[in-house]
Amino acid sequence: MLEFASVFVKDVECLLEEVLSTKDVDVFGIKAKNILEDGYIYATKDGGKRIRPICVYMGAIATGRPVAEKYDGLVKLATIVELIHSYSLVHDDLPAMDNDDYRRGKLSTHKRYGEANGILIGDGLLTKAMELALSNPDDALFTRSAHIIATGAMNMVTGQALDLQNDAKDYMPIYALKTAQLIATSFEAGATYMGAGEEVVKNVGSYGHHVGMAFQVADDILDCADNSLLKEVGEKKAKFILQEETQKAKECAKNLADNDMLTEFAEILLKRKK
Ligand code: IPE
Ligand code: IPE
Ligand code: MG
Repeated sequence: MLEFASVFVKDVECLLEEVLSTKDVDVFGIKAKNILEDGYIYATKDGGKRIRPICVYMGAIATGRPVAEKYDGLVKLATIVELIHSYSLVHDDLPAMDNDDYRRGKLSTHKRYGEANGILIGDGLLTKAMELALSNPDDALFTRSAHIIATGAMNMVTGQALDLQNDAKDYMPIYALKTAQLIATSFEAGATYMGAGEEVVKNVGSYGHHVGMAFQVADDILDCADNSLLKEVGEKKAKFILQEETQKAKECAKNLADNDMLTEFAEILLKRKK
């Protein structure tokens, strides 16, 4: 997606695989096989665009502070976000939710491993995210950043619940919560971990919010989903909203370091084809 972030994304993918390749369980000498390991790897590997990890990294760069000495913590924060995102997709595809049989060009996780295991694989990914979030207790900035991500993840759950309601939908709050929040808080977490002040974190978060809104509207346009904003307002208006959110993101970028990178990212999301 963005060449400058490709090494960072690879490092996140390595950590993902490392933390999910859990050994068989041994509790007080009682041994059990970790039968969900394949499912964890299946749900997180291959095909994901890794947008949210890139958002963590870009949030850090947007502060203008040198990222090298904070690199390992940023990889860990980005891995937490990708674990949360992956669990949300596994659950989103379940029959009780969107009932989708395919994701990323392959069977969705519950189709491959069964519905009950699908629920558990999602649970496991989220629990792994919690374990990682609690793994640097002496690093106050890391803990604060992980807390910000947790807030975004809670808002995402509320957004999913609102989206599942059958009454007339107000799409903007739903999109702000179910999609833009995890993206905005990924940016904020990256900036926070760099030690940026409140004002910068707020600007980075606003940029992320608008990019996240544009991302979901673009997703609807690409999916031509019949239960989406597209059906409610029509394609023309949806494309207008997409332009408008992208423009707002670019405005926010003007106050941040590496304006070019942030503008390019907003453009890439605007024009994306998958
Ligand atoms: C899909 O997100 C769900 C939405 C919020 C639109 P992505 O399009 O980022 O999914 P992957 O990780 O690249 O498959
Ligand atoms: C998924 O939204 C958003 C989540 C928070 C998981 P969608 O249902 O619109 O995304 P796709 O089309 O399944 O990827
Ligand atoms: Mg869905």
